[in-house]
Amino acid sequence: MTSSVSIKDLSLNFGSVAVLENLNLEINDGEFLVLLGSSGCGKSTLLNCIAGLLDVSAGQIFIKGKNVTWEEPKDRGIGMVFQSYALYPQMSVEKNLSFGLKVAGVPQPEIDKRIARASEILQIQSLLKRKPAALSGGQRQRVAIGRALVRDVDVFLFDEPLSNLDAKLRSELRVEIKRLHQSLNNTMIYVTHDQIEALTLADRIAIMKSGIIQQLDDPTTIYNQPRNLFVAGFIGSPSMNFLHGELVEKDGKPAFATNGVTFSLDGYSALEPLKPGRQVVLGVRPEHVKVNENLGAEVHDATVDIEEPMGADNLLWLKHAGHTMSVRINGSRRFKPGTPLKLSFDMGLASLFDAKSELRL
Ligand SMILES: Nc1ncnc2c1ncn2[C@@H]1O[C@H](COP(=O)(O)OP(=O)(O)OP(=O)(O)O)[C@@H](O)[C@H]1O
Ligand SMILES: [Mg+2]
Repeated sequence: MTSSVSIKDLSLNFGSVAVLENLNLEINDGEFLVLLGSSGCGKSTLLNCIAGLLDVSAGQIFIKGKNVTWEEPKDRGIGMVFQSYALYPQMSVEKNLSFGLKVAGVPQPEIDKRIARASEILQIQSLLKRKPAALSGGQRQRVAIGRALVRDVDVFLFDEPLSNLDAKLRSELRVEIKRLHQSLNNTMIYVTHDQIEALTLADRIAIMKSGIIQQLDDPTTIYNQPRNLFVAGFIGSPSMNFLHGELVEKDGKPAFATNGVTFSLDGYSALEPLKPGRQVVLGVRPEHVKVNENLGAEVHDATVDIEEPMGADNLLWLKHAGHTMSVRINGSRRFKPGTPLKLSFDMGLASLFDAKSELRL
């Protein structure tokens, strides 16, 4: 696959503080790449380096094979959409869309064509004569996306474009951005701290912590095979259950022991031999525990502590082997606090980490 954006050994310092260090990232042509991480991890910094809004301290950036490290933002073939829409308040939607093109000297018939196309894609045709003050937040954000769209660029950069919107609008525009990508097939780099946005939109997710990419994979792999404890805990809500314990041997096979309870590890595909005595963390997602039915060969006892019915799902907080554990079951299945339950764990879907290095085993 050809590379659309290529970042080589990128470093960026603010004064003496290194925010990005020797970062490497290849983004494929037409790919939707999401940069995901908590506040301050360097997502916007990386995006702004790609956009040319920040001067890099070291390293190189290529867009469509061209070294753009020292090019002006306007010469990079990128369109950027920010969290704050930053529309010109005194201009109509149409003027907001055309302004940049006029400045760049694009002929009027071409401008008209591009505005017609963008406003059709974003369904803002009926809003073209209005001023931003007369638009809802979602409509304003659509205009902001439209402004990037009319520039006819190779690469779109989004920095938390939906975070100023309420939950309902956010999920609506999320679907529209996905549709936009499906119809345009441009390369999109999208920054968010919202794991749902990342999981739903991305072809691949780069999870960042302290300026370092922790894992770069498709959403399913990130969810099911997190490479380390940080990624495992960051993705999923409620978070993966983490049980601290040690590797033992049971019936001649590797097993996991915690607080006097042993778990068979049958079905777990380990990346390396599971040697007894090693301190480890067993990670189990709330939906990968069976409760009272279709139980596997090994059954564990637990008690309901708290029940959180959520409509489609029911979230149970259980007491099990001295741990509190969350378990997600179908919303129609209800259990009162104090109810004893039988559990079994699907080790094929579990994760095992070294307690010290925090890396997946
Ligand atoms: N102009 C600046 N001068 C000094 N430090 C900065 C500057 N801009 C950002 N930083 C620091 O760089 C780090 C990364 O910031 P960045 O804006 O990239 O984070 P982010 O991942 O986008 O976070 P958020 O989700 O809050 O937007 C932070 O610790 C921030 O304080
Ligand atoms: Mg940011």
